[in-house]
Amino acid sequence: TKAIKGFKPDFLWGGATAANQVEGAFDQDGKGLSTADMVPFIPKEKRGLSFSMDVTSEYIEGVLAGEIHDRYPKRDGIDFYHSYIEDIALFAELGFKVFRMSINWARIFPNGNDAEPNEAGLQFYENVFKELRKYDIEPLVTLSHYETPLELTRKYNGWYSREVIDFYVNYAATVFTRYKDLVKYWLTFNEINVMVHSPYTGGGVLVDKVPGKTSDQIAYQAAHHQFVASALATKLAHEIIPGSQVGCMLARMQTYPVTNHPDDILKAQEHNDLNLFFTDVHAKGEYPSFMNRYFADNDIVVNKEEGDDEILKKYPVDFISFSYYMSLSVTTHGEFEETAGNLIEGAVKNQYLESSDWGWQIDPKGLRVTLRDFHSRYGKPLFIVENGLGAYDKVEEDGSVHDPYRIDYLRQHIEQMKEAVKDGVDLMGYTAWGPIDLVSMSTSEMSKRYGFIYVDQDDEGNGTLKRSKKDSFAWYQNVIATNGEEL
Ligand code: BG6
Repeated sequence: TKAIKGFKPDFLWGGATAANQVEGAFDQDGKGLSTADMVPFIPKEKRGLSFSMDVTSEYIEGVLAGEIHDRYPKRDGIDFYHSYIEDIALFAELGFKVFRMSINWARIFPNGNDAEPNEAGLQFYENVFKELRKYDIEPLVTLSHYETPLELTRKYNGWYSREVIDFYVNYAATVFTRYKDLVKYWLTFNEINVMVHSPYTGGGVLVDKVPGKTSDQIAYQAAHHQFVASALATKLAHEIIPGSQVGCMLARMQTYPVTNHPDDILKAQEHNDLNLFFTDVHAKGEYPSFMNRYFADNDIVVNKEEGDDEILKKYPVDFISFSYYMSLSVTTHGEFEETAGNLIEGAVKNQYLESSDWGWQIDPKGLRVTLRDFHSRYGKPLFIVENGLGAYDKVEEDGSVHDPYRIDYLRQHIEQMKEAVKDGVDLMGYTAWGPIDLVSMSTSEMSKRYGFIYVDQDDEGNGTLKRSKKDSFAWYQNVIATNGEEL
């Protein structure tokens, strides 16, 4: 057998977005509200180290009644709804083979469970997919990226209710049928593990509506409903779209022990297990046994219905996708300083790593570690569907943006991807997060920029929305053109 030299010829290079962070037009053409439309801008002084979204039912009702007035940047996004033709032309110029995006469920079913889908919403995504196909760009479509229709939250408490499985399956069947000739690659839930970090974000679940239960008790039940829904959607995609491929999606939190004390090793292993639980269920089709102990220790009872286990077993995913921004370090020794990042709990600073402007610890080699681990744990194709650097950019007087820091970050990660491929990892593709600047998930800032394409809009929502190319644009264009040979 020959050693592998680099990325395969049909490697899927591209970029990734989410409807709620780019589209805007939150109430146009029949769209209903989604959970993301209720998430306010969070000023710096109110932010903690980790991302937590404590939206309550009282808050939501207050906003709807017109008693609370905050700013909701995700309602406006970067107006992709009206600028997709121009934006896709820029993606084509970058040489994208794939574009990851999500369908906003509330654009198709405004209340989540309407009798009929909203034709204007269906037409919008059909136009987008056709525009991508014009340039031979494969759409990679997330069915649910933190966009639970708000009415499902109000009436059913989101994914905590089992009924939501049926609504989701009906939504999935509707879009699979409509786009069967346009979309081959699907993801069922973005970062499904976010459910345990923020049930509202991950599943439109309001913890305050279930008094007497812990957030974990509620979240794992809701996650079970998503597992079943994901398996049923995988089954349906295969039936409706011949040759389709369905993946799960995890926010990968590669976790290291700080010291070689066996207690630290075990603690890191437990952190990794709790993270990989979500991919285990999707890839192996069953709950891993280590969760039994975790559930018992934390008084968590997951109610399953008869047949659920068979469904999980019968319809595993075709590939595993994940986001990767940073690694985490944990320890049983108290003396280390805590670090920042979305979805961290009790992680400490790794002295060997640098941090982004937002305190996320940059660890390209951790990506290789993750890829190798996934490969040996599951033996399925892998897809990196988010990776990138959120940074402040400065626009020069002539309009240019010099972003060598972004190029460095991406280069180092792609180098490690290449090493992993040489290690034998089956990697399908790579979509950099936010190829065009978009509204931040965790803080709703515009100034936390990821793009190769600059968007003229500030944190207050002022700006012309004009698009322009940063230095990283030409760099990534060349990476794709040389299939990752020139970095
Ligand atoms: C992932 C999400 O967690 O990270 C994206 O899937 C998000 O929606 C991305 O935008 C980056 O996080 P942030 O908070 O910098 O926008």
